[in-house]
Amino acid sequence: MAKRGIESLGELKGKRVLVRVDFNVPLKRGADGSQQVADDYRLEAALPTIRRLSEAGARVVLMSHLGRPKGEPKPELSLAPVAARLAELLGSPVAFCPETVGAAAQAAASELAEGGVLVVENLRFHKGEKKNEPEFAAALAALGELYVNDAFGVCHRAHASVAAVTEHLPSACGLLIEREVEALGPLRDGSAARPLVVVLGGAKLGTKIPVLEALIPRTDAILVGGGMAYTLLKAQGKPIGGSKVEDDLLDTATQILESARTRAREQGCQLVLPHDHVVAAGLDDLTGYDVVEEVPSNRMALDVGPASLAEFVQVLRTAKTVFWNGPLGVFEQPPFHLGTHYVASFLAGRQGDCRTIVGGGDSAAAARQLGLADAMDWVSTGGGASLLYVQGEDLPGLDALPEA
Ligand code: 3PG
Repeated sequence: MAKRGIESLGELKGKRVLVRVDFNVPLKRGADGSQQVADDYRLEAALPTIRRLSEAGARVVLMSHLGRPKGEPKPELSLAPVAARLAELLGSPVAFCPETVGAAAQAAASELAEGGVLVVENLRFHKGEKKNEPEFAAALAALGELYVNDAFGVCHRAHASVAAVTEHLPSACGLLIEREVEALGPLRDGSAARPLVVVLGGAKLGTKIPVLEALIPRTDAILVGGGMAYTLLKAQGKPIGGSKVEDDLLDTATQILESARTRAREQGCQLVLPHDHVVAAGLDDLTGYDVVEEVPSNRMALDVGPASLAEFVQVLRTAKTVFWNGPLGVFEQPPFHLGTHYVASFLAGRQGDCRTIVGGGDSAAAARQLGLADAMDWVSTGGGASLLYVQGEDLPGLDALPEA
């Protein structure tokens, strides 16, 4: 890790340490109507850094965004329920301040006992956060004496709490960012053990084009499923029936296929698309539910078919590293979860024998929903951030941290 870590900050006892975490978690309504955290994974991922600081006697001031409130307070996006859940996970009290910056937040930070933890209100209730405004960064910096960024999931955003704030305080990266960079770094710099197989899925080809383009030259095989496969199949002239397609991307899809063909000829990277499909009339209409090789015009493909899965698994069996990003079908809705479940189970079964890395977002949610996240070597907490990092982009939040 080329960035300064927590140890570089020196004595922590009694110091107010301002920590950027990514507590952008899904919420649900509890039985009593109150807001509750629906998935703890980003909270759990932040615990090692919070505990390290707290055990060293620091006064820990946590800040995060939640959702996209567009620079205005939105009570339904308050971090109060997140602070309550964090207290349960830590097994010790967590104070909450309903202000993000200003006198009340500064007082709450100063009142913390050594080892105490405070969560301030949603950063994105302030327009200055997304605009990376120096004044807002200075107001944030007034809450601490030292700064730690442990919010990998938001490092691709040049926002005040990850970028401008580092100009005001001695800064370091947290333990989660260190682990993310260690896990994803070999995919980024080409040093991952080969064969490297990438499993790409998800609804939209548009969001995956840059990663496809970046990975084709340094990967042994790319297995494509999910809605994004159907734009590529249409570009190949295959019948895709009523499957969702991004028609504006057909030319780009043709270029990607051509670049994959060239790479296959020159260095053997295979781009494997599904050749059978689980179809139905629609998500809520199982009429004509079937496995087919050619999608009829009155059906849409909603999952990868079994023959394609068998081919995917043959390729995965040879891999020494697998990077998986995006579900292969509509995994939230049985029976269209089976392809994603099958591949995730196969990867889980290769634990110890192959390094399995799950990019964040929906594939991470799928791995957790299927109870298989613990069987993977790494499940990233970043959605957009992990893809951008793997494809070699600079992340402003990482760039802002001092080199070791
Ligand atoms: C995420 O969920 O990917 C991060 O928290 C970033 O959220 P954003 O896309 O709203 O910036």
